[in-house]
Order: sequence, then C-alpha cells, then structure tokens
Amino acid sequence: MPPASGTSPASRIEQGKTWPEPQGATRVRHLRIFRYDPESGNNPRVDTFAIDRDKCGPMLLDALIKIKNEIDPTFAFRRSCREGICGSCAMNIDGTNWLACIRALDEMNEPATVYPLNNMDVVKDLVGDQAHLFAQLHSIKPWLRTRTPAPANSERLQSPEERAKLDGDYECILCFCCTSGCPSHWWNGDRFLGPAVLLQAHRWLVDSRDEATDERLDELEDPFKLYRCHTILNCTRTCPKGLNPGKKIAEIKLMIQQRRS
Ligand code: SF4
Ligand code: SF4
Ligand code: FES
Repeated sequence: MPPASGTSPASRIEQGKTWPEPQGATRVRHLRIFRYDPESGNNPRVDTFAIDRDKCGPMLLDALIKIKNEIDPTFAFRRSCREGICGSCAMNIDGTNWLACIRALDEMNEPATVYPLNNMDVVKDLVGDQAHLFAQLHSIKPWLRTRTPAPANSERLQSPEERAKLDGDYECILCFCCTSGCPSHWWNGDRFLGPAVLLQAHRWLVDSRDEATDERLDELEDPFKLYRCHTILNCTRTCPKGLNPGKKIAEIKLMIQQRRS
C-alpha cells in the first residue's frame, strides 16, 4: 500500500486501479502514478499502468503521453518542449525531482513511482499549483532595471567577460525541482524565496547592464527572504540542468556582507 500522507483521512493515498497488461508484450514497464482530482471528492490514489516498451518511446514523458492517449484520457500532467528546456514536466520520479522528458524509462525502478513535485497544492494528478512560486519570482523584479537612457543606436552591450558572469544562472528553466526539494521552503515558503527565485535574483545582480544592484540587495536583505537558506544543498543535488543554486545564494549573502564592510 502507498504510505498515508498528512493527518487528514481525506488526504490519505489509497490503492488505485491496476490497469490491464498490454497483450502480447515481451518487455513491460510498470509505472505507479499518483492520481488525484480534488473536484471528485475522492482521496488521492496510486494507479499502476503497464507499458509495452516495444511500443513506446524511450523516455518517461513518452510513457505518460501514451497513457493519456491510449489508456486513460483523464490523466493530467504538464509538458511542452519534450527536450529539457521548458521546465514544464518536472515531477518526482522514483523519489527524486527531475524532468520526465529527460528521464529514460530504462533508468527507472521496476515498478517506477511518479508523483507530483511536493510542497504544492495538487491541481490534478501530476499538476501542482505554482502560482505562489511565480508570485515570488515576480517579487524580485526579474527584468533589467536601469536609470540611464539606452544608447541611441545600439543595445546595452556587454563584454564577453561580463556576459560570462551570467553562466550558471541563465540556463535555469524554472522547473522548480530545487524549490520543491528545499526543506527551508517547505517550512517557510510563505516568506523564504527558495532556491529557484534566489538564483534568478543572482542572475540580475551580476548583470553588468543592470543599475539597481543596491536596491536588489536591499530587497533581499531580510531574515526570511534570503537567510532561511542553510546551505544544505538539496537544491543543487536535484537540479536537472546541473546548476548550483545553493552556491548562488551563498554569493548573494557574500555580496551583502561585502557591501557592509
Ligand atoms: S541550500 Fe538553501 S535553498 Fe538549497 S535546499 Fe538547502 S536551504 Fe534550500
Ligand atoms: S535552478 Fe535548476 S532545479 Fe532550480 S528551477 Fe532552475 S533549472 Fe530547475
Ligand atoms: S517537456 Fe519541457 S522540460 Fe520536459
């Protein structure tokens, strides 16, 4: 049986439906997938699906699309690019946050488990409510803030060295795997900005064209927004793009420290 979650009986995860095995299949992959429709009034459950590996693409996302197209059209999940650049298909796969489109079925457990990212209200099945996370992103004003007029006949230019300072930040696809795995954000998510948003804040702090560095640091110098990070680095371990948000947060703290001295 799947574990009970939460204290309310209505939130306990129940044994769901086991869908039929594909006929004639010689290579079968089983996926135990979290299902929940808040509008149904039913408890969450875990359904077991059997996928014929010889009639499915190589990635978990291929299997999820196959399930929706051929087995259960009510199944809900997010996806768009199917190549690891949009951040939509983040979910908890065999206990780790990752992207379904770049997780090979052959790398997964048998049976594999697929849950939504944790620490988010479930809209339906694998779709979490990210409204709060995007509101936190908006709060750091993730756009170029300038006072001086733009050059008349060119863009605001950067040297290659200035541009290189954005490396390790610009690659973030806002999948929120990191924030979903951050214990500080579990406990203080109403006020702590979390690793994804703080990495974005770092991206604007180190942009040579931005002219609001002091204001940005003023806005971040707060016991909850920034300093709830305790550098445990769950965020860095789970980033599917290989980024290091924990290090970037430490760099923001250092910038504030250096500004004081
Ligand atoms: S290093 Fe900071 S942001 Fe990353 S998981 Fe730990 S507390 Fe969260
Ligand atoms: S830092 Fe990594 S895990 Fe976090 S939102 Fe960006 S890409 Fe996703
Ligand atoms: S579908 Fe875009 S990252 Fe997976």
